[in-house]
Amino acid sequence: MTAISPPGSTKFQIDLRRHLRENEEDRDLTRVICEVADASKYIINAIRTGDLGLAGTSNLYGENQLALDVLSDRILRKRLIHSGVVANILSEESEEIIKVGNGGKYSVAFDPLDGSSLVDVNLAVGTIVTIFEGEDLLQSGRNQVAAMYILYGPRTSLVYSTGRGVHEFAMNQLMEFTLTRENIQLKPSGNIYSPGGQRNLYTEGTEKYVSYLEEKGCKLRYSGGFVPDINQVLLKGSGIFLYPHLKNKPNGKLRLIFELNPMAYLIEQAGGKASTGRQSILDLKPNSIDDCAPIFIGCREDVEKAEEFIARFG
Ligand code: AHG
Ligand code: MN
Ligand code: MN
Ligand code: MN
Repeated sequence: MTAISPPGSTKFQIDLRRHLRENEEDRDLTRVICEVADASKYIINAIRTGDLGLAGTSNLYGENQLALDVLSDRILRKRLIHSGVVANILSEESEEIIKVGNGGKYSVAFDPLDGSSLVDVNLAVGTIVTIFEGEDLLQSGRNQVAAMYILYGPRTSLVYSTGRGVHEFAMNQLMEFTLTRENIQLKPSGNIYSPGGQRNLYTEGTEKYVSYLEEKGCKLRYSGGFVPDINQVLLKGSGIFLYPHLKNKPNGKLRLIFELNPMAYLIEQAGGKASTGRQSILDLKPNSIDDCAPIFIGCREDVEKAEEFIARFG
């Protein structure tokens, strides 16, 4: 049953409601998604015209923050804090969880600008968002109520799921998001591989797996941006992205709460799989806000094959 939209809804909100959870007039969830969508318009402007330099500060992960990281973070934080429906916020660029304290129904974690170091060479970047009900942002990814990303590429697109399939919107000339794809599904196996991290630091299992992919003729597609790299696997319905455990980084590089969980949620909603190489990403229980994990994510059979190599060779 399609939820009836309140009067004055925009086309985006009406299209969003086509897939919100059954029989749930959940305006607050729609509100969070719309706030992120609106914030993206200011982030686009920042990317196009903003300062490409360093902010002079670093984040919890020891990364030198770019002015764009800080500005994108501020744009998103402000919108979510003033939305009235968000209780707690966690950002890649915040040192701790931000308690908004207005009794909001949802808590939101986000990577305000993923791949920010790619903007100065004009490659695609993105915003990644995960949404939980309640105040706890250290829940396992299995408990997410929604996840989404915005991809700032040649086109600006928004991909989201609230647990009823994965759907894509594209931004038109009026900067409105219009529905372009519904119920995106991955094939069981694909022919693209997107290998993150330094190959010389791959463990034996990952090395043997990637060689297996190459021998079977898979095409290497890696931009260095998590959002465009995942978006390619999702929209082509084919392939696998990996940022594995490395000899010097047993937990890989990508952050569990605001990078891996939202993408794992979306890919699983599209019929794919997301694994550390040994277990499902969505079953991990974060111990702290800066947890990282290795990831093999994409077509189900391709991820299962990776798990076989990791089980045998480490
Ligand atoms: P962020 O810009 O949010 O810090 O994330 C960058 C991440 C992700 O976009 C990508 O998959 C990964 O860094 C690439 O890492 P390498 O540069 O080590 O390949
Ligand atoms: Mn960063
Ligand atoms: Mn990131
Ligand atoms: Mn980032």
